[in-house]
Amino acid sequence: MRDRNLQVFLDTAEAAIRVASASPESLRAAGRVFDRCRSLHGPAGPVRPERLPVCDWLEPALDAADGTPRQAVADALGALMGLLAWKRRASADPADRNFWNGHANAMIFGPSGLEERDDLWIGATVMAPRVAYADHEHPPEEVYLSITAGEWWNARMDWTDPGAAGLIYNPPGIRHAMRSGEGPFLALWFLPV
Ligand SMILES: [Fe+2]
Repeated sequence: MRDRNLQVFLDTAEAAIRVASASPESLRAAGRVFDRCRSLHGPAGPVRPERLPVCDWLEPALDAADGTPRQAVADALGALMGLLAWKRRASADPADRNFWNGHANAMIFGPSGLEERDDLWIGATVMAPRVAYADHEHPPEEVYLSITAGEWWNARMDWTDPGAAGLIYNPPGIRHAMRSGEGPFLALWFLPV
């Protein structure tokens, strides 16, 4: 049996994505992730909670979702907050102080996640205001669900804020990035692996 808070998180995320105004490929990619979560429940991962100073932005970021279509998923994420291990990107360079101090990622479903699995990744990224996340790429396609304002770029898309009703889709292998504005940034990512 899956932990109830994890299931509520999945259900609210799926509902937020289902009502988003988004491209068919983003809905298809997210659908793949949720279908796999339905057909298989992975074992609970032995996650030791970890925090970084940038995690002080989590609460204001979650609060920013109040009254938006993302409030339910933000609340569900908030219920998991004390369990998550927030870490810097493995390739982050300590010399880049703004990025080093200004971002953290937590795996919720996936390798070393709250639910251990090798067929998908679901996680969260938090950033302080005015931080750019390193350009990166990965073979799986990816859907981002924004909890706060933020902007995304990929090699086929100019900088875009999807707003509280949109989604961002990155095709497999594409170079992409994201950045915060004047406020904190919080977003969820969904990748069928
Ligand atoms: Fe990515």
